[in-house]
Amino acid sequence: MSKPLKVNILTSTDPSVSFDKTSTPLIAGAFEDNNHQVITHSSESLPSYDELLDCDVFVDRSPITDPNFFRGLARAYRIKRLAHTDTPLMVDNPLATIIASDKRKTHKLFPDLVPESYDLDGITNHSLIDSFKDDEYVVIKNPLGWYSIGTELISPEDAHDKYGEATDLVVQKYIPFTKGVGRVVAANFDSDFQVLCSYTMIPDSWRTGEGVASRFELTDLSPSLEKLARMVAQTSGIYLNGMDYIESDGKYVLLENNTVPNLRVPYHYMGVNAPHLFVEHVERSAGRI
Ligand SMILES: Nc1ncnc2c1ncn2[C@@H]1O[C@H](COP(=O)(O)OP(=O)(O)O)[C@@H](O)[C@H]1O
Ligand SMILES: [Mg+2]
Repeated sequence: MSKPLKVNILTSTDPSVSFDKTSTPLIAGAFEDNNHQVITHSSESLPSYDELLDCDVFVDRSPITDPNFFRGLARAYRIKRLAHTDTPLMVDNPLATIIASDKRKTHKLFPDLVPESYDLDGITNHSLIDSFKDDEYVVIKNPLGWYSIGTELISPEDAHDKYGEATDLVVQKYIPFTKGVGRVVAANFDSDFQVLCSYTMIPDSWRTGEGVASRFELTDLSPSLEKLARMVAQTSGIYLNGMDYIESDGKYVLLENNTVPNLRVPYHYMGVNAPHLFVEHVERSAGRI
């Protein structure tokens, strides 16, 4: 049994924000079940960095994607460290979060794993979209989005018309799935890597996300999938990872690595108590710092 930990969780408390309203209570409950103290902070009325970092474990479950927030958090953490003040275990490392929550940065981190992608800059869009002129469709996505908000499947001709001048979007090769979109939920701290759940999301549409009904099935964790998930987690530097991939021509194509993965799906649909497994992993990590 781990010593009681003070756990600060940062999450959205605004009911109109549709972002992770169901997993975070399960995570908080799993910490409390093991006698840890949980304090929830609202991402809509942010406390000071010092208040956020005044804990043993900091868990970011917020929809914040502003790099300035995470840079400030990293700076405050570093200052505490330099002053030899106790610093919390970070779920996640704020600088790693900046990269993972921006798909353009993730594409640069894993160039050989992701679908062919280009950042639309409003100037060279037509030639970038032309890279896919022989394809039936391309995917347009908001690099900072989630739940597929701002994601569109569109023909290259229509993309020229609609997105010829757009900025801050990504055009990407369409990788149709055969069965569904895979998700590996994994925790990693130093070299302690553990897959919490591996499953397939099977949507009734070309994509998963908002406005789409999905079924879920457990996926066998093959040695090659585990190896890939370990590499993605350790290269990203993310503690709690939700890696999305599509299997295509016998290869895994990485779509993204979510920093706020849903733990309710494993819990409710797969019978895998991912929140509890996560808390046990955190207890192990906290025992080592
Ligand atoms: N290049 C692609 N080819 C095929 N499907 C895609 C592609 N990109 C995204 N999708 C579909 O859209 C969903 C959401 O895309 P993703 O990149 O994971 O962003 P997010 O989940 O953050 O909105 C994926 O789960 C998948 O179903
Ligand atoms: Mg996704």
